[in-house]
Amino acid sequence: MIQDIFEKIKQNRGPIGQHAKESHGYFTFPKLEGPIGPHMNFRGKQRLNWSLNNYLGLADHPEVRKADAESAAEYGFSSPMGARMMSGNSNHHEQLEAELAAFVQKEDSILVNFGYQGMVSAIDCLVDRRDVIVYDAESHACILDGVRLHMGKRYVFKHNDVEDCEKQLQRATKLAEEQGGAILVITEGVFGMRGDQGKVKEIVELKKKYNFRLFVDDAHGIGTLGKTGAGTGEEQGCQEGIDIYFGTFAKSFALIGGFIASDEQVVEYMRYNMRSQIFAKAMPLPLVIGALKRLELMRNEPQHKENLWKITNALQKGLVDAGFEIGETNSCVTPVYMNGSIPESTNLIYDLRENYNIFCSMVVYPVVPKGMIILRLIPTAVHTMEDVQYTIESFSKIVGKLKAGEYMSDKIAAV
Ligand SMILES: Cc1ncc(COP(=O)(O)O)c(C=O)c1O
Repeated sequence: MIQDIFEKIKQNRGPIGQHAKESHGYFTFPKLEGPIGPHMNFRGKQRLNWSLNNYLGLADHPEVRKADAESAAEYGFSSPMGARMMSGNSNHHEQLEAELAAFVQKEDSILVNFGYQGMVSAIDCLVDRRDVIVYDAESHACILDGVRLHMGKRYVFKHNDVEDCEKQLQRATKLAEEQGGAILVITEGVFGMRGDQGKVKEIVELKKKYNFRLFVDDAHGIGTLGKTGAGTGEEQGCQEGIDIYFGTFAKSFALIGGFIASDEQVVEYMRYNMRSQIFAKAMPLPLVIGALKRLELMRNEPQHKENLWKITNALQKGLVDAGFEIGETNSCVTPVYMNGSIPESTNLIYDLRENYNIFCSMVVYPVVPKGMIILRLIPTAVHTMEDVQYTIESFSKIVGKLKAGEYMSDKIAAV
C-alpha cells in the first residue's frame, strides 16, 4: 500500500524529534542570548556557558567585531553575486585561500560555504566508482554522508584502531588493484564527542606499506592544536602526510564556512569539480574579510591559544583530581562521563542550569551506549580559573545527588 509522506512523518518524528514536545526550547533549540562568551543569558538569567566552540574567544574580540561591522557596512552581504566560477570571485576570496593554505602548510586551498557541505562535496568529487574509501567508524556525519554519496566500495575501520585500519587497507588494496581504482582514507583530527585525537601519525606511517591518500577533517584541531595552530598534523608531527586537510570556520574562527587545503593541482581540480561550490553562490565578502581578520589574530596573538590550554588543563586536571572520568581526551573537548538513565540526565541538566546556572551540552543514548551520560564541556580562552573552580565544585555536588538517586524521581520540577 502506498503511503503519504506527510502521514509517515506524523507517525515517526525521528530519533530526536520524537522528544521535541517535551524538550523544544530547553534541551533542544535553547536560546543563548547576549554577546558570545562564557557568561550568557538563558531564559532571562546569566549562566556559565561551556557549550560553544569559541575556542580562542575570538567571537567577541574587539578587532573581530570591528572588522565584521566595517566589512558588512562596506560591502553588504549580497556581494559577490553568483558562484565563484561564474561571477562570484574576488581578490579577498583568493587572498584568504592563499593565507589559509600557508597557515596549514599546504600549497593551496579552496573555500567552502559550510563545513558540513564542503566535506560531503569534497569526498564526492575526489572519488569515482572504481575507488575505495576507508574511514573511521566514529566519523562525523559530514564524512558519513560524503561516503554515502560514493558509488564505489567503502570499508570502515573500528574507531582509532590502526590495526583494523590496516586490515581494511589490505581489502581495499586488493579491490582497487582489481578495479584499477585508488584508495582514500578519511579520519578526523579530533573526534568531537570524546575529544580523542585521530591516529593520524600512525595512519600516515601506513603509507610506507599501502598506496593511498589521507583526508583529515580537523574541525576541532585547527587553531587549537600544534605549535602554530595548524592543527592535529602539526601537533603529531605529520602535517606533511595529510594529503587533504579540512578546517571549518565554525569553531576556533567563530565564524561560518570552511576550507579544504591540498596540493595546488588537487585544489584546482576541486575548484572545477566540487559541486557544492560550482552550483552555489560564493561566500559573502564580510565573511571572507572576517575570516582574514581572525586568521591574522591567530597568527599574531598566540596568547589566545595559550589561555585556551591554561583553562583546558586546569579544567581537565581539576575534574580528574575530583574523581571524574573524562576518558581519553587529548584535545580541548572535555567529556565528563556519568552513569544514569535518560530521565535522570534531563533532571540533572535541569538542576545544573536552574540551580547552579551552568549551561553545558548533554550527550545520551543513542549517541553513546544506554545508561551513559556525557556532559560535554568546551573550554575557551575567555573562561577564567574561577569558572573552572565553580564548575568542578558544582559537578561534585550534582554527581553526589545522582549517586544518591535524587534525579530518579520527579523531585526536580519538570521543565
Ligand atoms: C568534525 C566535524 N566536521 C565537520 C563539521 C561541520 O562543520 P560546519 O559547522 O562548518 O558545517 C563539524 C561541526 O560540527 C565537525 O565537528
